Amino acid sequence: KTSDFQHMIDAHALAANFYSHLLLNTVEGEKALYYLEQRGFSRELIEKYGIGWSLDDREVLTQLLQRKKFEMKEMERAGLCVMKNDGTGYFDRFRGRIMFPLHDDNGNVVGFSGRILSESKEEAKYLNSPETPIFEKSHLLYNFHHARLNVRKSGKVILFEGFMDTIAAEKVGIMNSVAVMGTSLSDTHLTKLKRIANQLIICCDGDDAGWEAAKRFALLSAQKGLNAQIALLPGKMDPDEYISVNGGEAFTEKVLGNPHSYMSFIMAYYKRSKNLSHENDVLQYIHEVIEELAPKVSPVERDLMIRQLSTETGVSSSALNEQLIKKV
Ligand code: CTP
Ligand code: MN
Ligand code: MN
Ligand code: MN
Ligand code: MN
Repeated sequence: KTSDFQHMIDAHALAANFYSHLLLNTVEGEKALYYLEQRGFSRELIEKYGIGWSLDDREVLTQLLQRKKFEMKEMERAGLCVMKNDGTGYFDRFRGRIMFPLHDDNGNVVGFSGRILSESKEEAKYLNSPETPIFEKSHLLYNFHHARLNVRKSGKVILFEGFMDTIAAEKVGIMNSVAVMGTSLSDTHLTKLKRIANQLIICCDGDDAGWEAAKRFALLSAQKGLNAQIALLPGKMDPDEYISVNGGEAFTEKVLGNPHSYMSFIMAYYKRSKNLSHENDVLQYIHEVIEELAPKVSPVERDLMIRQLSTETGVSSSALNEQLIKKV
């Protein structure tokens, strides 16, 4: 039913305008606007991404949608409204959150991600729209509709794990980045990226979850035949934090400008948790790297790997080679 699709899209457009108005033009939105300013969002950026604010009020959007004659059952299916427990009516799904519209590839708003103002243990930092007929998390790449042309021109796309990182990159003039919604990268995502880019730079957060995500993303990209490199951040920073501390130039040159191959990333990944002045760690490190890389690398890479391992650990190349032969 095409028209139901259109109703949901129209409702999202209305909601996005409403949230944006609340953020930019009302007293209730001031706290959120201040928060965004503190995080370096200019008015222009807020407008470009259509960012808004949802009131703490339980029913403002629901009432607006009703006034505009949207069907409540449909609005529930669209993820904007939730039915009350006693079944007597509906209330707003998003309340008291900074609203980031999620766009499909044509630029239609098809969902939202709402961020709370101050992080707490009780509430999730981000609340996303549920899966709906117009929004599938595993299909949507944040910023795809903005970045597509720039990606095509340069052949290069940067992949972040959070949309805040994409917005931060855009702030410093990097116009070819997209983000997954959370930490899973699907085959559909990769198909989309492969269609417009021949080079992918994966740039995940520097925390443990980010390293794990980078490893998964890199492996999936390789399986998809996408030429991927991995950009690493110092410490536990994420790209947004790095940019706000060190600036866009440092990010472009030191982080994006110095990406790792899969092999060199895997070595960094296993080295991360080790102290190579301890014999146990050395043995473990060599074992893990060889186990993971031996079946995957070319002869030339294998040679580079052996030489690097030897330099790092002091173990002779011939011993490493012997160990490796068993795994190929
Ligand atoms: N995410 C989510 N729900 C959460 C936490 C994260 O859906 N409770 C998703 C969001 O899509 C987010 C991404 O995972 O964009 C990355 O999470 P995280 O690194 O924690 O968020 P940041 O992008 O760093 O957001 P912020 O800087 O505002 O903390
Ligand atoms: Mn309908
Ligand atoms: Mn993260
Ligand atoms: Mn992050
Ligand atoms: Mn962040």
